[in-house]
Amino acid sequence: MKQINNNNEIQTLALESRRSGKSIALVPTMGYLHEGHLKLMQEARKTADLVIVSIFVNPIQFGPNEDLDRYPCDLEGDLAKCNRVGVDVVFTPTPAELYPDFFQTSVAVNEISQGLCGAGRPNHFQGVTTVVSKLFNLTLPDFVFFGEKDFQQLAVIRRMVIDLNFPIKIVGVQIIRESDGLAMSSRNAYLQTQERAEAPAIHKALTYARKLHSQGTTGTDTLCQAVSNSLHDNIKSPFNIEYIEIYDSQNLTRLDDKISVPATILIAVHLGKTRLIDNLQLSQN
Ligand code: PAF
Repeated sequence: MKQINNNNEIQTLALESRRSGKSIALVPTMGYLHEGHLKLMQEARKTADLVIVSIFVNPIQFGPNEDLDRYPCDLEGDLAKCNRVGVDVVFTPTPAELYPDFFQTSVAVNEISQGLCGAGRPNHFQGVTTVVSKLFNLTLPDFVFFGEKDFQQLAVIRRMVIDLNFPIKIVGVQIIRESDGLAMSSRNAYLQTQERAEAPAIHKALTYARKLHSQGTTGTDTLCQAVSNSLHDNIKSPFNIEYIEIYDSQNLTRLDDKISVPATILIAVHLGKTRLIDNLQLSQN
């Protein structure tokens, strides 16, 4: 396995691989890899000849009061994990490599970046689509793998790929959960002991909404309120709900009355100092 820090080197390797007829899969990450990332890498390994993982904590997708400075990091551990899964190349640029002096270009997907996480994190998705576009141009992938936990991110990137004609197949991979239901996330490392014990209440509440929906409840307010009530019943640590909303699973538009199309319920909760997101498909139709 090769580790590359340099733009020219990774792009040359990608160009040469493509010229020799090899397919390329990219798994973009911010490191501190967990089972969810490993699943993305395993899927990438099954799909392409050359698997590239990028590890880069992208400063421009963090707001001024967010966790950029304390984002967890374990490069040595990450490299060992990538090696075990059979990754070919790990791209680990510095911020100065990706954002040199005079850098001033950005990529923005306007509408679907506005709601949900975009409402509370105004420049977040522009930071994501900008870095992801750069990573696409540097690694020239045929396939790129993203987790479905970041449901809105996946939708935003799919839109960008269509709108900007990137010749890339975006592959969404289902959420990997801990045995108690908590969606895997690098940020779970921030949770204090009691918060960690209570965090599975998020998935439990979403599952309850799905059950109510399967029993005939279609009102979005009723379902979102049921999730909120369930969280208040099960979490004793300080927490606040950033959003609980139900969206059309296909086109990521908000459903604000009754569910009549395949729908997903999405949530962001601040449990103590940790921001957690999750989602669950409520119905296929
Ligand atoms: O999902 C993430 O880890 C990041 O948003 C990504 C896609 C690697 C871009 O920095």
